[in-house]
Amino acid sequence: MASRRVSLLLGVLLAYSAAFAVSAANFNQEFDITWGDGRGNILDNGQLLTLTLDRTSGSGFQSRHEYLFGKIDMQLKLVPGNSAGTVTAYYLSSQGSTHDEIDFEFLGNVSGEPYTLHTNVFTQGQGQREQQFRLWFDPTNDFHTYSILWNPKHIIFMVDDMPIRDFQNLESKGVAFPKNQPMRLYSSLWNADDWATQGGRVKTDWSHAPFSSSYRGFRADACVAVAGGKTRCWRRRRRHRGRGGRSRRRGRRGLQRMRWVQRKYMIYNYCTDPKRYPQGLPAECSMQ
Ligand SMILES: *[C@@H]1O[C@H](CO)[C@@H](O)[C@H](O)[C@H]1NC(C)=O
Repeated sequence: MASRRVSLLLGVLLAYSAAFAVSAANFNQEFDITWGDGRGNILDNGQLLTLTLDRTSGSGFQSRHEYLFGKIDMQLKLVPGNSAGTVTAYYLSSQGSTHDEIDFEFLGNVSGEPYTLHTNVFTQGQGQREQQFRLWFDPTNDFHTYSILWNPKHIIFMVDDMPIRDFQNLESKGVAFPKNQPMRLYSSLWNADDWATQGGRVKTDWSHAPFSSSYRGFRADACVAVAGGKTRCWRRRRRHRGRGGRSRRRGRRGLQRMRWVQRKYMIYNYCTDPKRYPQGLPAECSMQ
């Protein structure tokens, strides 16, 4: 019963997200390169952004807008070749010690070995909800779309429109959910060879520097925070849909696809790591 309800919801969300085909926004208008002293660049009339990392510094950018709910898509092409020690972080975050955060992090590897896609959700400053995945393609060969679908009921992580993780709103069961703090979008490329690759055993090989990751195809079908604690929602023309079978079928398929990805590609799940939680697994683990 519960899983039927989840699959319905997931279906509505996916159908909703598919109802929009918005053209890619201009990086010059949407983002500021915030650090890296020239190592981050916006190119091709705002259609491409690159970050680089060398021995001296990484680089990063952030969105001008703060978002409160929406679907945010970005195409990324990650550091190729020997990317061990490098991390490309791509995340939404609010500010302050009780901040909310929704993370994608791509941990590089030595040539020929797979990247790790690390995900996490922070609510009111508290994270420790890591799930990690392998990808079913080489993320350095081509651009692939990484999306965050965030609404009052769910946070769904997607890779090329394939749902890989669904963090549900379980506030009614006492689990906090990010829904009051607007979040900015951030990304950075930096050196994390103290922990990132094979637990920190493999260090960054600076003879391959500068390392570079690229971005294009940014789309935000989202609500944006404006003055006075209000939001303005863009591109929210809701397509009329019956309550009938179509979205239900899509929902079941969405859930099946997510379960399939998780079965085949998930390599770490905090919910199956009881030794981290001597007091017992987090409450949401028994509910989703
Ligand atoms: C790198 O490759 C090794 C060997 O395949 C694997 O164990 C590890 O999880 C990969 N990813 C990272 C980030 O270390």
